Amino acid sequence: MDNLKRQVGIEAAKFVKNGMVVGLGTGSTAAYFVAELGRRVAAENLRITAVTTSSVTSAQARKLNIPLKDIDEVEAIDLTVDGADEIDQTLNGIKGGGAALLMEKIVATYSKDYIWIVDESKMVAHLGAFPLPVEVVPFGCGQLFRLFEKSGFKPTFRLDDKGALWLTDSGNHIIDLHMNEISAPEKLARLLDDTVGVVEHGLFNDMVKTVIIASETEGVKIVT
Ligand code: A5P
Repeated sequence: MDNLKRQVGIEAAKFVKNGMVVGLGTGSTAAYFVAELGRRVAAENLRITAVTTSSVTSAQARKLNIPLKDIDEVEAIDLTVDGADEIDQTLNGIKGGGAALLMEKIVATYSKDYIWIVDESKMVAHLGAFPLPVEVVPFGCGQLFRLFEKSGFKPTFRLDDKGALWLTDSGNHIIDLHMNEISAPEKLARLLDDTVGVVEHGLFNDMVKTVIIASETEGVKIVT
């Protein structure tokens, strides 16, 4: 699995050229992309500026001497590369397993080009087996939790290793919805967008045009 993640990370880094502003995703797959960029910065004198999608990725990029800027300091982001938790045949996806969905969606929204990198296990017929992360404001999140329960969304609060409510980089909590199958991702996204207290959700509908997939049998392929 790690080998497949490494392959797509290296493949995606080939899209990065001198002078680009690059959005760095979060997660174990995106980390291989960031590592390869760091290698190219050191070995090939690749000149890029990066914006990141989480404190974890910022820390990795700093260690690798990848020049970083705040998202508001750059005029435009040329390309963002990120992982995903599930992708269906229309290239809608679920993200946020690493709790970075809010910053990931903001960076993706302001990127001219956006690529997901995954191993084959992330490709699914229907979204929803992976619990859908929803980032919520702490105030009133118990009420919101009960609303999700009543709606049949089977919510659970994400906890940290000490059993406390998970705190995102933006100081919010995460409620995971165990829906099993999401038959209408667009409808669910609209409903969550309209729900007070929801900051963002992990449905990334119609956002990505290119997915790089690695499989044991077929190697690396680029799907558009
Ligand atoms: C982070 O919040 C996520 O959106 C990740 O990009 C996603 O969970 C994929 O992570 P892995 O590459 O670790 O599976």
